[in-house]
Amino acid sequence: MTEPRGKRQNIMTENSISLSTHNGIVIPDNWAGYNLDVFSLPSHYCEDLECVFIPHGVIEDRTERIANEIMKDLGDNHITVLCVLKGGYRFCTDLVEHIKNLSRNSERFISMRVDFIRLRSYCNDTCMDEMQIIGGDDLSKLSGKDIISTGRTMSALLSHLGKYNPKMVKVASLLVKRSDSNNGFKPDYIGFEIPNKFVVGYALDYNEHFRDLHHICVINENGKLKYKV
Ligand code: HPA
Ligand code: MG
Repeated sequence: MTEPRGKRQNIMTENSISLSTHNGIVIPDNWAGYNLDVFSLPSHYCEDLECVFIPHGVIEDRTERIANEIMKDLGDNHITVLCVLKGGYRFCTDLVEHIKNLSRNSERFISMRVDFIRLRSYCNDTCMDEMQIIGGDDLSKLSGKDIISTGRTMSALLSHLGKYNPKMVKVASLLVKRSDSNNGFKPDYIGFEIPNKFVVGYALDYNEHFRDLHHICVINENGKLKYKV
C-alpha cells in the first residue's frame, strides 16, 4: 500500500520545529516543507518550485505575534517604520497593519510614519559584494525618532542610519538564514530562522520573479535555470 502523498512531511511536530524566543521559530535543516499540491499556487510556478516552505497563514500568525512584542517594547514612543524594498514590503505592510490594529484596540495610540528604502545585493541566488542603498529621501528626519527596520542586509544599512542619530533603532526581519557567511548580525525581532536554502515568495524574489507568490517556497533547479539572467 502506498502512503498518501505528503502525509509524513505535512506534520509539524514538536520535535521538528522549535521556538526559541530570540531566534524566532527555528526551522531545522531537514524540514522538507509541504507538497505543492496541498496549497493554492499559481500553476505557472509549479514546475519551478520544490515545496511550500512556510505557508502564508503561518507567516501571518507569526507576524501578528511580532507586532505584539513590538507594542510591548515600544512604551509611549512613536515610530518611523523604514521598510526595506522590495523583499520586505509584504512583511512590513502586514506588520504595520497588526501594530495599527493593536494600537487601535488599546489605550495607547502609537503614531507611525512609514518610509521606504531599497537595497540591492543579489543577482541570481548569489550575494554581490557591493550593496546599493537607493531611496529613503527623508532619512534626515529620523533624528531623535525610533525606527523599526524590516528586512535583511542590515549591517551596512545600520551604519548608514547611524549618521542620522536616531534615538533608537530596532530591526525586525521575517527570516534569518543560517549560513556560514552570516556576519553575526542579529535582528531584534525574528520571524523564522531558516536553513541555507534560496526561498521565494511573499515579496522575496529570484531575479524579480516569484514576488507575487502567497507562500514562502523553495525554488528548484528548474526555476533557477529558467529565470537566470
Ligand atoms: N530569497 C530571496 N532573496 C534572498 C534570499 C533568498 O533566499 N537570500 C538573500 N536574499
Ligand atoms: Mg532580491
